[in-house]
Amino acid sequence: MSTFQTLPGFREFYPDALARRNHIFRLWRQTAHAFGFSEYDAPVLEPLALYKAKSGDEIEAQLFSFTDKGGREVALRPEMTPTVCRLVAGKAASLKRPIKWFSIGEFYRYERMQKGRGRCFFQFNADIFDEPGIEAETELIALLAQCLCAFGLTEADFLIRLSDRNLWFHYLEALGLDEARARAILAAIDKYEKAGDGAFNPYAERFGAPLDPAIKEKVLAFLQIKTLGALEAALAGLDNARLAARLADWRALLGNLGAMGLRDYVGVDLGVVRGLAYYTGFVFEAFDRKGALRALAGGGRYDDLAGKLGCAGMPAAGFAIGDMTFALLLEQRGLMPALVQAPDICAVIGGPRERLAAFGDIHALRAAGFRVEYPMKDAAFGRQFKAAAESGARLALIYGGDELARGVVKIRDLAARTEQDVPRAGVLACVREFFSAR
Ligand code: HAM
Repeated sequence: MSTFQTLPGFREFYPDALARRNHIFRLWRQTAHAFGFSEYDAPVLEPLALYKAKSGDEIEAQLFSFTDKGGREVALRPEMTPTVCRLVAGKAASLKRPIKWFSIGEFYRYERMQKGRGRCFFQFNADIFDEPGIEAETELIALLAQCLCAFGLTEADFLIRLSDRNLWFHYLEALGLDEARARAILAAIDKYEKAGDGAFNPYAERFGAPLDPAIKEKVLAFLQIKTLGALEAALAGLDNARLAARLADWRALLGNLGAMGLRDYVGVDLGVVRGLAYYTGFVFEAFDRKGALRALAGGGRYDDLAGKLGCAGMPAAGFAIGDMTFALLLEQRGLMPALVQAPDICAVIGGPRERLAAFGDIHALRAAGFRVEYPMKDAAFGRQFKAAAESGARLALIYGGDELARGVVKIRDLAARTEQDVPRAGVLACVREFFSAR
């Protein structure tokens, strides 16, 4: 074992692990393309200021940050959202609407390590810009659901919990709380599921007194809401136009998702408020139904962030799926395929002269897109046949002295155990025919 270990929470991908990761990325990419999203990319190292006061205290405390040789304060990106806002802000006027973008990249957070949480992880990010209405949320939640369903997961495996910071703000305002108090309460709600009543301690410290028990009771009842009916009932007594308009948005969004056949994938859950500071409206998180894993994905509307990055009046919404919890869920459900990396063809080579003859065909076959392997060193025929059979290849191409003398190659179908001699000039055509027939 090397004395140089990876840093805690950092991952290495051996080929079998990378094959699994690539499989996940391939299906996410394919799904995003089907939904009309365009792929972009951006640097992993960013100015520290991009995250300060943009992402929120929790992420700020988790930054991998340092001063570079030019004296700049920099950070490894903990998330994509501020970066993608900067990208859009940089070309906002010339970008074709709707702006529907996605990316797959690596992110870094100095977090306490636990199952499904590391210090470097990949995220699939999808965001829509300049669409203020629930049409954006409809598209994003449908994409999120399909990014999970593409692997064979169903509504029995995961649930997208939908909530609304906007509604929360209007509700807390209707209870007589100012914005600072409302934000502190939302921070407590974000922690409530894990920390219980202790989640309200920072509120008491900040404002010098605990939250009024009558208000707290209302807040705790509101965060238990799990259906549209219960939400309608809770708001029925409050004659508040903004709350009523919000309720209309809820009905429309759930109606849209229902029409897509996705209603069973989405649950109303006002207990979700999201820890990131920039969310302004609908927020959502995807969890496995058994509740055994950390969040699979999270996102929501953030209408003000692009404004802070130089592009005022640019509403936005988006989400990110993390690769770690997701891979755990696929494995738990037996949905991670065995990704064998078998060659199409193995060449079996008699000796140095035959090797030179084989090289021409091997190169031509590879150039035509076939995966071809051959032994790097001369070896007995028996050993080469055994290796070819074990490799999982479909065909063996045999270059013996006898074949060479007759100007042919022996092509063996390794599964059917049949073989035929093919003139050297016809090898590529014969291989092509074999694979196209299957
Ligand atoms: P987030 O909830 O911080 O949101 O992260 C989204 C997902 O990334 C999580 O649900 C989780 O699967 C994964 N993730 C986060 N931290 C870790 C970690 N330390 N180890 C492993 N996986 C992790 C955001 O990042 C937002 N920027 C999403 C977004 C995009 N909002 C709008 N657009």
